[in-house]
Amino acid sequence: MGAVIRVESLVKEYRDGGRVGPITLTVGQSEVYGLVGPNGSGKTTTLRAVLGLLRPTSGRVEVLGADPFEDPKRVNSRVGYSPELPTFPAFFTARKLLEVTCRLKGMSLQETKREVERVLDLTGLVRHADRRVAGFSKGMIQRLSIGQALVGDPDLLILDEPMLGVDPVGRVHIREVLQEERRQGKTIVFSSHELYEVERVSDRVAMVYMGRTVLEGSVADLLRPSEDVVLEVRVKRPPADGVRNAILRTEGVRSLEIDGQALRVVFDGSRDPREEIADLLVRSGCGLLEMRTAPPSLEDVFVKVVRDGVHS
Ligand SMILES: Nc1ncnc2c1ncn2[C@@H]1O[C@H](COP(=O)(O)OP(=O)(O)OP(=O)(O)O)[C@@H](O)[C@H]1O
Ligand SMILES: [Mg+2]
Repeated sequence: MGAVIRVESLVKEYRDGGRVGPITLTVGQSEVYGLVGPNGSGKTTTLRAVLGLLRPTSGRVEVLGADPFEDPKRVNSRVGYSPELPTFPAFFTARKLLEVTCRLKGMSLQETKREVERVLDLTGLVRHADRRVAGFSKGMIQRLSIGQALVGDPDLLILDEPMLGVDPVGRVHIREVLQEERRQGKTIVFSSHELYEVERVSDRVAMVYMGRTVLEGSVADLLRPSEDVVLEVRVKRPPADGVRNAILRTEGVRSLEIDGQALRVVFDGSRDPREEIADLLVRSGCGLLEMRTAPPSLEDVFVKVVRDGVHS
């Protein structure tokens, strides 16, 4: 199965001197793909290029086998889009807005009726369907925007910051909607600046930083324990120097910090020295109370990449 989206060395130079790129990423069929990066790093620019809404200065963008800028019809009929900070005509009700969206997508009146009900139900907006958008909260606007993207059951969903301004309960619901779409084989690309959110829902991620992709790959690969693992230990009595040195000499251990009863051991994830460390602490009478690994998060990975990148 070919890639759904292929972006190769995309560069966008804005007239006022703003620049994004080079961006390179590949999104496969039925993936949830997270585009993550700080404010102004190029997420929206990348998504707009994928949608054919802007012409790249250089590089190549291919979506569902076509160039979205040259062949927008072919791409747009199969793509649903929820923009960053969506706005709607205030006097529309949610239902009316979705009806108009269906009609613009070429649906008959009968199809429209069915589709509006389906989308209202999916996004949890049934209760609010006949209220004017003017009275909608941020979270409701975001749901409506995602609902609009779902109209016509597109193969590819592009969501620019879908969780922005949504409360925790709303987020759970949006995550469920996305998971359901993915179960049905849809491909979902979304942007966020929250690493935790992206780590939770994505199969693959790209991180953009200062306009460039600095990291791309599957979340599982990026978090593979080949990197350092942090072990947090609590003991009853601080270990004596002998124990401290013995821990430091244990194969795979890189560093040890002791702060009273709390120990922080960093070890090379390719080897697991936990049993030896526990043994040392117990035998030396330190009174082992607690031991847990803190798995690397995407945040650790990204911070490392950015820091290494800045120094190189
Ligand atoms: N229409 C535009 N005209 C000029 N410069 C732009 C335009 N849109 C984006 N830029 C510039 O391109 C860079 C990337 O912006 P972009 O909006 O793509 O970032 P982003 O990652 O989506 O940020 P945010 O998290 O704030 O939404 C910024 O330097 C920005 O100033
Ligand atoms: Mg943006």
